[in-house]
Amino acid sequence: MKLKHLLTLLAAFAITVPAIAEEDTPLGKEMEKISKNLKAVNRDVADASKKADNIKKVAEAKESCAAASKFDPAKTKEISAGEKAKFIEGYKASMVELGKGLDSLKAALEAGKTDDAKAIIEKLNASKKEAHKKYKAD
Ligand code: HEM
Repeated sequence: MKLKHLLTLLAAFAITVPAIAEEDTPLGKEMEKISKNLKAVNRDVADASKKADNIKKVAEAKESCAAASKFDPAKTKEISAGEKAKFIEGYKASMVELGKGLDSLKAALEAGKTDDAKAIIEKLNASKKEAHKKYKAD
């Protein structure tokens, strides 16, 4: 191969690879939905007129959580063969915890317990940070 062709190929590769890496994964898309719904609930949590909306949004977040659990994190491909199963198991277990947190958020909203709901959202955000450190690719 001529050097010029090789250079053209390398340039094309350098442009394409980051574009692929930044593309949304199906898991990431479900995460975005969880994020959007929880942000709206956080904003309107004290608004009694939004109670039904808030509960619906948490239910939608729960659906996204179930959908996201079916995918493996993109980072899985960076994990050594021997650690992969444990990594995926840990990811799924954290998603089960997220699902439980969303259930308790829904219960707090249904009971009109605004302070509890706020505390649960804070907890969810803290565990999100921890989970992203472990399971999200850099
Ligand atoms: C309140 C809870 C959560 C919210 C709002 C949330 C939100 C997000 C958002 C917006 C993204 C995509 C954008 C970005 O790259 O930053 C994302 C990506 C990701 N999140 Fe979450 N997340 C939450 C909890 C979790 C939990 C509990 C886990 C693991 C068990 C997790 C694992 C991941 C992974 C692996 C990605 C990268 C996508 C991929 O690998 O395909 N997240 N999350």
